[in-house]
Amino acid sequence: MSAHGVRILRVTCGLILLTYLTTHFLNHALGIVSLDAMERGRVWFLLLWRNPLATVALYSALITHGLLGLWALYRRRTLRMPPWEATQLVLGLTIPVLLIAHIVGNRLLHELYDVTDSYARILSIYWVAMPWRGASQTALLLIAWIHGCMGLHFWLRFRPWYPRATAWFTGIAVAIPVLALAGFVQGGIEVTELARIPGWTATAFRTDTPASRAAGARISETIMTVYGGLVALTIGMRGVRSAYLRRWRSFGVRYPDGRTVTVPIGFTVLEASRHAAIPHASVCGGRGRCSTCRVRVTRGLEALPAATEAERRVLRRVGAPPDVRLACQVRPRQELEVIPLLAARDALATVLADGGHARQGVEQEVVVLFADLRGFTRLAEQRLPYDVVYVLNRYFEAVGIAIERAGGIANQFTGDGVMALFGVETGPEVGCRQALAAARAMVRGVEALSAELTGDLAQPLRLGIGIHVGHAVVGRMGYRDSTYFTAVGDTVHVAARLEQATKDYACDLVISEDVATRAALDVSGFPRHEIALRNRAEPVAVRVVERAANLTGG
Ligand code: FES
Repeated sequence: MSAHGVRILRVTCGLILLTYLTTHFLNHALGIVSLDAMERGRVWFLLLWRNPLATVALYSALITHGLLGLWALYRRRTLRMPPWEATQLVLGLTIPVLLIAHIVGNRLLHELYDVTDSYARILSIYWVAMPWRGASQTALLLIAWIHGCMGLHFWLRFRPWYPRATAWFTGIAVAIPVLALAGFVQGGIEVTELARIPGWTATAFRTDTPASRAAGARISETIMTVYGGLVALTIGMRGVRSAYLRRWRSFGVRYPDGRTVTVPIGFTVLEASRHAAIPHASVCGGRGRCSTCRVRVTRGLEALPAATEAERRVLRRVGAPPDVRLACQVRPRQELEVIPLLAARDALATVLADGGHARQGVEQEVVVLFADLRGFTRLAEQRLPYDVVYVLNRYFEAVGIAIERAGGIANQFTGDGVMALFGVETGPEVGCRQALAAARAMVRGVEALSAELTGDLAQPLRLGIGIHVGHAVVGRMGYRDSTYFTAVGDTVHVAARLEQATKDYACDLVISEDVATRAALDVSGFPRHEIALRNRAEPVAVRVVERAANLTGG
């Protein structure tokens, strides 16, 4: 089965199980009302889940999901992984340990020995007869729910509508287990009271027999042994495979900083990075969905196995050139050299801090701002050079402070122009808002400077600013001590072109609509235009802001 097919199967099974948990927990929640309400709710719950179709779907999903988890554990070449993946894995492995006795003691004994699995009987076990089992079932409830919600979150988080729905999901994700536990506790208190009534417990357990109890213990033990064996087998097979591959078959991945990581054949490039603790972006956790792990292969491309259709689809989506592959999907068999294209967050911090790894540049979304002083050439022609230097330095000071205060990096001062980057560490949404705030402050600063120099200037100073957001390669460039942090790429050209367009529209600011959208800024009151660009088939939609002071929000 293809990786895509496996993923669909895992998600389908996960959804069936999560639906089951939701209805089961809502049934528990009725305990807040009364034990009787729980029992009445249980009738509907059984109607839903105890028919042949639902039974097959539920238990097939449970077994398949478990086996797929063990298969994923076997396939994983390194156990180095981000904390959220480790949490998901450990929770998943813990669930069967706590679940087996619950299923056997209730559903299986009901099927085999006609034992009643009413709330009265089960709560008596958990609250009166064996409170330690009540504690373990509470842990099971929380673990299974967290595991399910994490799976759902990591499945949905790239959907465009998901960020808007997060608040609802979070509310539901917290409310359901809280209500279920409240119902469980309230039901437990009621059962503890009822158990004091002579004969009540005997009635609750009337269908239990010594034979059913012995069978329950025996079956639970057997299934636990089988499960333990499967986990041990998975781990053992991983060890055997690693030893064999390490001894006989391996390959090396060379990274831009000169490091070569040798790993057994079968590792993906992402696993090689993780194995050597090399920061490598992998937002979807290596599931081939986000494309953030992509690498440019600078040597050994021809010898790589061809990309699967799923990998090709993701690469097509980001318009990747032929020498780019997904590090989490490609399993090389020979030496290769790669350049990771997107910075892992912590890799990015290193980039900014020392400029070592940054020398080859990393691709990421960034906000680029270009500003230019209108009529400066005429001013330069009319004034002594010393005056020009004075005015320029005051101008650079005013705009530099505005950029820094807004959280940007003013990285190029050329002639009367300035280029600044935003969102390098904070992401494009925050970066767009910062860039707009900087633009307003820059215009204000230049107006103040112009007012101060009124007597010396033939006409007021005026600034034109262009802002665009998109992918660019950021890194340190230059030679020896003269290196600086900058960005290169189409996004930079577009921002420069938007700054030039401020002359055509005689305005303070031209921003791309992408910037307004990412900053969640209402720009409906500003004229919309489309600007054609060389080397781009599609024009860029922009908003023209005549006076930056009119720009509010963002
Ligand atoms: S880590 Fe998401 S596609 Fe590779």
